Amino acid sequence: MESAASRQSPPGLPVPDLTPAEDQAWSALLFARRWSRGATAPLASATPVPDPLMATEGLIARSEATGWGVPPAATGEVRTLLELYLPLLPRQPMATLTLGHLGQSLDGYIATARGESCYVTGPANIRHLHCLRALADAVLVGAETVAADDPRLTTRLVPGDNPTRVILDPRRRLPVARQVFQDGAAPTLLVCAAGEGLPHRWGQAEVLAVPTAEDGRLRLEALVGELHRRGLRHLFVEGGGLTVSRFLAAGLLDRLHLAVAPLVIGEGRRGLSLPASPALGDCLRPSCRVFRLGADLLFDCETRPDPGEVGARAVTAQRGDNAVGAPVLSRV
Ligand SMILES: NC(=O)c1ccc[n+]([C@@H]2O[C@H](COP(=O)([O-])OP(=O)(O)OC[C@H]3O[C@@H](n4cnc5c(N)ncnc54)[C@H](OP(=O)(O)O)[C@@H]3O)[C@@H](O)[C@H]2O)c1
Repeated sequence: MESAASRQSPPGLPVPDLTPAEDQAWSALLFARRWSRGATAPLASATPVPDPLMATEGLIARSEATGWGVPPAATGEVRTLLELYLPLLPRQPMATLTLGHLGQSLDGYIATARGESCYVTGPANIRHLHCLRALADAVLVGAETVAADDPRLTTRLVPGDNPTRVILDPRRRLPVARQVFQDGAAPTLLVCAAGEGLPHRWGQAEVLAVPTAEDGRLRLEALVGELHRRGLRHLFVEGGGLTVSRFLAAGLLDRLHLAVAPLVIGEGRRGLSLPASPALGDCLRPSCRVFRLGADLLFDCETRPDPGEVGARAVTAQRGDNAVGAPVLSRV
């Protein structure tokens, strides 16, 4: 029988369903996400937060000292799934997190030269993208991604809410007919360079004016501050390469997920593109965990040296811990 997830898979790309055990772990993660946003009973009431707070079936637990953690009893695919996503949950209800993701070829491209990107990575990473959307308050993309792909940016392949959609289009070059401006599937913000004559709305999207720097680029720290002010604290920068690179260069990414596919594009749209470093010692060499996503490898990189309050760590995740066993997702 066709399942809810596979029914909504992109044409020609059957995305694997969560197994029943993974589905239970995913429910626990969604519970924890709601809790951390203050939408669940212990925080909504005046009652002090229980410590430890246990989520669904005791699959994950939170303590003030260590944040969210995987109990030792969790094994195999469930443990791997929790280890991958638990660091994306805020340690404290008001904590912020900004995560970037790119799916790239072995030679570092995210699309062909003419902008074709469906699909660089395989079905397991496409499902992963939908998981990242479901865990985020807002998903952000650059104008070129909306121009090339006309994406919906909704959560369709796993259970979870649609995040607010934030489109960075400083010069207002995107036509109003794009799906994100028309379908009403989620609140949508069109981010434009502050200036005269901006409309209040573009289709169903609210227009948000953001100041620009001397080089004409949007001041991303101002944008992030405004999103936080609106209660959008967990931001997911989904692409493309220019947009993720600008967040990284501005020091605004806490984590970066790079999914590397066994594919050689040759020449195309670059993934990361940063100002040149004169010496290797000056280059960013983030601490990484590596997961297998079907045929792709996912590098989960900590791109801020001191995450502090940002993002809880998977307290039981150990480097070199080979929880292999699931063909879709496993630790390397
Ligand atoms: N494989 C993947 O993971 C993945 C993910 C997403 C998209 N894609 C593909 O990647 C391609 C698009 O990526 P891309 O790197 O070319 O472009 P992009 O990042 O989608 O969009 C870049 C544009 O967004 C605007 N923008 C972003 N940040 C800005 C800032 N700080 N200040 C001012 N403007 C800003 C600018 O618009 P203006 O040019 O108007 O100034 C900029 O040119 C498409 O082919 C898409 O299919 C692949």
